[in-house]
Amino acid sequence: MAPRLSLRTASAGDRLALWRLHTRSISSLCRDVYSDHEVKTWVGLLRPEAYLPPDPPRTVLVAEQDDQLVGFGQLDLVRGELEALYVSPEAVGLGVGSALLSALEALAWHANVRAMSLDASLNAEPFYRARGYMSLHAARRILTSEVYLPCTRMQKRRPSALRPATGDGPGQGLTPLPEP
Ligand SMILES: CC(C)(COP(=O)(O)OP(=O)(O)OC[C@H]1O[C@@H](n2cnc3c(N)ncnc32)[C@H](O)[C@@H]1OP(=O)(O)O)[C@@H](O)C(=O)NCCC(=O)NCCS
Repeated sequence: MAPRLSLRTASAGDRLALWRLHTRSISSLCRDVYSDHEVKTWVGLLRPEAYLPPDPPRTVLVAEQDDQLVGFGQLDLVRGELEALYVSPEAVGLGVGSALLSALEALAWHANVRAMSLDASLNAEPFYRARGYMSLHAARRILTSEVYLPCTRMQKRRPSALRPATGDGPGQGLTPLPEP
């Protein structure tokens, strides 16, 4: 029987596991599109204590299979910004990323966020496109004064069926989106 996937909110006790998973996911899954130097710089900046900062608050969900952490996603619910989505190399292609993304989107739409936005790693762009995200423009994630990661700014609007007629939720102040 396939191991059951469960999602829950992350807690402080997950910090070390989050750091390990994040490091392994980048090192294994992003190296096809980024150089060794870029990947090493990227993972070298990660710190266990930097996960789940109390200020500003973030929504962090973890995915578990058989009590093992297999993925996590981090959302800034005020800005509708998906800040992280990482799956362990062993669990890739099994629906973990999709499950985390759907759960974070549901939270965002429920909070009246008008659109979810993110800077997609180049390897992950097809994943987001298949899940309704539109590529807006090329972007760069600044790691150090010398290392910038090319990425793609992407966005997905709240489905119209879920849009309230009026409202003043967190997403209401966004710049109007280009028509698809
Ligand atoms: C991008 C990422 C989050 C996707 O997570 P995932 O759990 O692999 O995604 P899912 O399994 O839900 O979906 C992957 C898709 O690829 C397909 N797939 C099948 N085998 C695959 C494989 N070996 N590797 C990747 N994808 C595979 C799946 O069938 C699915 O396609 P479909 O549902 O449209 O048919 C994950 O690959 C990852 O962590 N990548 C590295 C970190 C990263 O770049 N994160 C994004 C930062 S913006």
